[in-house]
Amino acid sequence: MKAADVTKLTKAQAAKELEKLRAEMAAADEAYHVKDAPEITDAEYDALRRRLESIEARFPELAEARPVAPAPAGAFAKVAHGRPMLSLDNAFYQEDVERFAQSVRNFFVRPEDVARVERDAIRLVAEPKIDGLSCSLTYEKGVLVKAATRGDGAIGEDVTQNVRTIAEIPQKLKGKAPERIEIRGEVYMTKPEFLKLNEKLEAEFLALPPEKQTKNRRRQFANPRNAAAGSVRQLDPEITRSRPLRFFAYAWGAASAEPESQWEFYDRLKDWGFKVNPLARLVTGVDGALKRYAAIAEQRADLAYDIDGVVYKIDEVSLQARLGFVGRTPRWAIAHKFPAEQARTLLESIEIQVGRTGALTPVAYLKPVNVGGVLVARATLHNEDEIQRKDVRVGDTVVIQRAGDVIPQVVSVVLDERPKNAKPFRFPETCPECGSAAVRAEGEVVRRCTGGLVCPAQAVERLRLFVSRDAFDIEGLGEKSIIEFFKDGLVKMPGDLFRLKAGDLKDREGWKEKSIQNLLAAIEARRTIALDRFIFALGIRQVGQATAKLLAKNYGTLENWKAAMVAASDPESEAYATLTAIDQIGPSVAEDLIAFFAEEHNRTVVDDLTHEVTAEAFVAPSATGSPIADKTVVFTGTLEKMTRNEAKARAEALGAKVAGSVSKRTDYLIVGSDAGSKADKARALGVATLSEDEWLALIGG
Ligand code: IVH
Repeated sequence: MKAADVTKLTKAQAAKELEKLRAEMAAADEAYHVKDAPEITDAEYDALRRRLESIEARFPELAEARPVAPAPAGAFAKVAHGRPMLSLDNAFYQEDVERFAQSVRNFFVRPEDVARVERDAIRLVAEPKIDGLSCSLTYEKGVLVKAATRGDGAIGEDVTQNVRTIAEIPQKLKGKAPERIEIRGEVYMTKPEFLKLNEKLEAEFLALPPEKQTKNRRRQFANPRNAAAGSVRQLDPEITRSRPLRFFAYAWGAASAEPESQWEFYDRLKDWGFKVNPLARLVTGVDGALKRYAAIAEQRADLAYDIDGVVYKIDEVSLQARLGFVGRTPRWAIAHKFPAEQARTLLESIEIQVGRTGALTPVAYLKPVNVGGVLVARATLHNEDEIQRKDVRVGDTVVIQRAGDVIPQVVSVVLDERPKNAKPFRFPETCPECGSAAVRAEGEVVRRCTGGLVCPAQAVERLRLFVSRDAFDIEGLGEKSIIEFFKDGLVKMPGDLFRLKAGDLKDREGWKEKSIQNLLAAIEARRTIALDRFIFALGIRQVGQATAKLLAKNYGTLENWKAAMVAASDPESEAYATLTAIDQIGPSVAEDLIAFFAEEHNRTVVDDLTHEVTAEAFVAPSATGSPIADKTVVFTGTLEKMTRNEAKARAEALGAKVAGSVSKRTDYLIVGSDAGSKADKARALGVATLSEDEWLALIGG
């Protein structure tokens, strides 16, 4: 299906799609990094990311900071939720709330049901939507036995030990407790406590000796929600205990007995010793709900904790049960979101930050201002186009906003207050960290530094990739050592690793004779390496393992590949045509490969590395004696006896290269039914064409 034009999306559609994209990317990340079994290609992943970025650029208020996760994935045991933990549909405008009420109304037919859910009669519980981390607490005979995070809704993480340290969560329910019940609610941190925690973390960091003040030890949280989530996901429960966490209860999961109404259930919660949000009210009709929304909105900035909307829940539990769910959201509840909190302040300067992937991000430095209870001194300007579109200039008074879990953003400029001499901002075309060219690929909003392996902002990340398991697989070199070696100038680029001597490591904290010998041996063992690993290890954008394999296979040797990539910089060249003719390598990947080699720094890194390492020429597996070994084949039209994918896999297994389009280098074009222009082109170029049966005969059936 073709994705809708981003400029035509409504905010609600954008929110929905973003949620879907985030879920897909998270699944892909997990498959790639955790399970080590990629499920989508690098190009597909990139397409998801690009789509996400362009939607976030149009609706900055829906953008989400990538969550910080202090404990690595897999650090906690998995817990399957007795009932899935769902999310809520969002309403942004009054019309959305009306539509929600309409759909509830339309769900029923019997007059006695309809009467209970009419627009002006429906009973709803309206309460703040807390911006924290949802948690499920299981009580057996009134005793807390398990606490779990939401996770993906079906499976969460077991954080029982940590949650036991939160004073607002009862260890034992007061009064009469059911046999078994799962209580759900939000763990959160207040804004003042969050700020105090950040100050404390910063002070602890500054108290470290200078050589230990590495980036990864600096752990400030972006907002109260991240602080709460990060504090719950600690490996040491004592750290969780030291964090000011709180809890509001608002729902139940699996239970031995169902309550009758949401509102009465809140009385039970209070009896048992939970805090229920004091702003929750039982209201009647849509008007009652909207009135409550306005009242809560008015108090929002004065509340000690962040809220991002008001949740309406149908009070009658029997109606909830009948309405049920659509996908991952209940039909009986909705979150009416608040607009982001805004303030005006002076923009003092614009600095360009270079991220670990080389993305150049403009950051606005502001005269500090209080936005909904949090002091804001910096805000993101997203990208080049955003600055231009909003015409943001240094010296301007700007409107900024903080939307929940998002880094504050610059929304607009107050033109009336622009100083006369304010000049349009010129976005740099070179990287402020390393001076390499910073380029913007066609169709992308982000400008990126091409200095990958030499740019200090990216070097640590690149070196980490370089030594990782799928690349050079050098054991014994963790992030901490890489950062230290880099800072001390010991390892600036990959080739430096191969020049390390025992003397360089001796006397370093944490390094003993044995570990030094082990590391040097691990490095020595990689002086010869498969070409595809070599290519992958360079960390070229969009060149993941699969693409690296394709390149190795198509170019055979490092020398060939390098020469071809340099030659391909001319889009009219045969080298360019050959590169883009490789199946699954399109113009976008080609552009990144060319940009990499266009940067002298990168060529230096590769050349330097070749002095230390031998990349083995690619050997096609099991291709000896194959009639199509080393041949380049192209498929076109519909095959009858097997799918295109199977045909490709067979061809590759027999040592052929499968290309996506016909060129002079094509050896065979295999023509299925309904073939199009490729067959004409093959004829014009004098390329041999085979029918499916002829092809099968050639490869032996
Ligand atoms: S009710 C079936 N009530 O919002 C849905 N959720 O988008 C049950 N949240 O994952 C949730 N405050 O973490 C509910 N007063 C509140 C809430 C609340 C915050 C969170 C919760 C949930 C998310 C849904």
